[in-house]
Amino acid sequence: MERLRYQLKSLEKFPVKVWNTSMEGSRHVAQSIALAIRQRQQEGEKIVLGLATGSSPIQVYNELVRMHREEGLSFHNVITFNLDEYYPMQPDAQQSYVRFMQEYLFNLVDIKKENIHIPDGTLPMDKIEAYCADYEKQIDALGGIDIQLLGIGRSGHIGFNEPGSWEHSETRLVRLDAITRKDALKDFPHEEDVPYRAITMGIKSIMKARTIYLLAWGDHKAAVLKKAVEGPITASVPSTFLQKHSNVKGHVDIGAATELTRFKAPWQVGMCNWDEDLICQAVVWLSQKLDKPILKLTDEDYAENSLSDLIIEHASAYDINIRIFNRLQHTITGWPGGKPNADDSTRPERAKPAKKRVIIFSPHPDDDVISMGGTFLRLVDQGHDVHVAYQTSGNIAVHDHDAARFIEFLQEFSEGAEPETKARYKAMMKSLNNKDAAPAEIAEILKVKGLIRRGEARAAARFCGLADSHIHFMDLPFYETGSPRKNPLGEEDIRITAELLEKIKPHQVYGAGDLADPHGTHRVCIDAIFGAFEMLKGQAWVKDCWLWLYRGAWHEWPVHEIEMVVPLSPAELRKKRQAIFMHQSQKDRPPFPGSDEREFWQRAEDRNKASAIAYRSLGLAEYEAMEAFRRWKFDW
Ligand code: F6R
Repeated sequence: MERLRYQLKSLEKFPVKVWNTSMEGSRHVAQSIALAIRQRQQEGEKIVLGLATGSSPIQVYNELVRMHREEGLSFHNVITFNLDEYYPMQPDAQQSYVRFMQEYLFNLVDIKKENIHIPDGTLPMDKIEAYCADYEKQIDALGGIDIQLLGIGRSGHIGFNEPGSWEHSETRLVRLDAITRKDALKDFPHEEDVPYRAITMGIKSIMKARTIYLLAWGDHKAAVLKKAVEGPITASVPSTFLQKHSNVKGHVDIGAATELTRFKAPWQVGMCNWDEDLICQAVVWLSQKLDKPILKLTDEDYAENSLSDLIIEHASAYDINIRIFNRLQHTITGWPGGKPNADDSTRPERAKPAKKRVIIFSPHPDDDVISMGGTFLRLVDQGHDVHVAYQTSGNIAVHDHDAARFIEFLQEFSEGAEPETKARYKAMMKSLNNKDAAPAEIAEILKVKGLIRRGEARAAARFCGLADSHIHFMDLPFYETGSPRKNPLGEEDIRITAELLEKIKPHQVYGAGDLADPHGTHRVCIDAIFGAFEMLKGQAWVKDCWLWLYRGAWHEWPVHEIEMVVPLSPAELRKKRQAIFMHQSQKDRPPFPGSDEREFWQRAEDRNKASAIAYRSLGLAEYEAMEAFRRWKFDW
């Protein structure tokens, strides 16, 4: 988002730096921390860091570890205090913040064990108060925190200071907000496993830090970031207290920044350098704000809503309305692979070749049908040579009880089999119920779970009309950690992706374009595709290959960013639902469901219907549902 086209002013109450990617922003923050560590080393002094867990600081920690390994950055003078820990929580549990910090930072650098402080989740209740007071004292005795890293929760919390936390709060035991517990579900198998309480540093403890970096990556943080940065100071959104700090800086990516006024409606905070994309954004915004179809917007509507500039610079409302209406109209097509023998000058896809080779990349085994099942069905019906490529095995998201059914099936089916085979299945059943199973046993169970998902994906792809030769399972290695925490993208992931692309030489590729999904599987999967194209860009076919991005995670593209939208009839929507139903292990309540209570097919339908309503409200045709895409333009 090359936002330099705005002469920026803003309503932001503390400085916020918006980075193109979370990676860039995280590198910058890591470098600032490294600089401070080194400076103190030169002075023969210690430095006290306040650290956070969660997804926000992971790339900062990765970068610090890299600097330690490659640039000799030492942590021998670093003392750390972590913000919080679940309560109760054993330090070696998968979800403990002790384990998190060890895995992402402490075990990978030369920090002294005695310099690490993380609230203790194992204390008996009656010891907590004194323990918390001592935590504060230890920080004060060391001269206070020099640099505090913070993430922000969707509840508006910093640390685990949930809505209602008072400004003068210190380290204490707290009750977690319902939103926070829902968000924590990404790390816990079931809702009942998520603790209700945590020990957290207070608002006052955080505000005492000399420097604070607030990190926010991804669209799902956009709404709360706006409140934290532009909203009134209130205990209902504890992060707003940061507005009172004299040295706080937000580091956010373009996804998290989308709701800030300077991005959402820059015309409200200054003069704009208008181009066609920005005009489209303004017209859609105005139409939605006034709940009025585009073609009915008047000069007065523009003038009364900070858009008089636009009218002065670009003729009348009438002209602008028609132009933007047509632009949006041209995004609608029932021919996602291009309409053969048609004038394609205003269509989203090329008419030629009439039969295209297509690859649909699906990060998890069900994203293809969830996010673009209707388009998938159309591409096949319209005779294109469609392949689907499942990028990861999705093996962690299968319940043990589902795996048990399959292993028992094998057991019973192989009644007369060799004793070794029978013994193997028996051992598998045993390790399924054993929390301390050995790594090899766990790997075997994960294999079963991966195969369950494979079978479901195959069934759904066949249902959409694909032959088995066109169904590819990539099992990218970055995903295969056996836990929700994944490895970063590796060369092997890119190589596997490039190999498939090179084999098929597609004219059209679809990928999950969760560009601002900093740590999730979707972001790594799209990066693997970008990396593969970068490798292959010298090849002739690549120049004719268009990459379309669907939104895989929770949000749809904002209307002004959509470049192709494929309408679905009620019958097509039903068929899409049937394809999603093939993913039986994900029905009802899958493991790691995230914060959304709806089943995947419901989320998909709500989203596709919402797009149709958005188009209709702008005054365009009324459809049952729509799937939206944006084209990724490579800069070669
Ligand atoms: C973690 C913490 C929390 C998180 C916040 C954001 O130690 O105190 O406040 O920073 O919940 O979590 P992520 O980064 O996972 O979105």
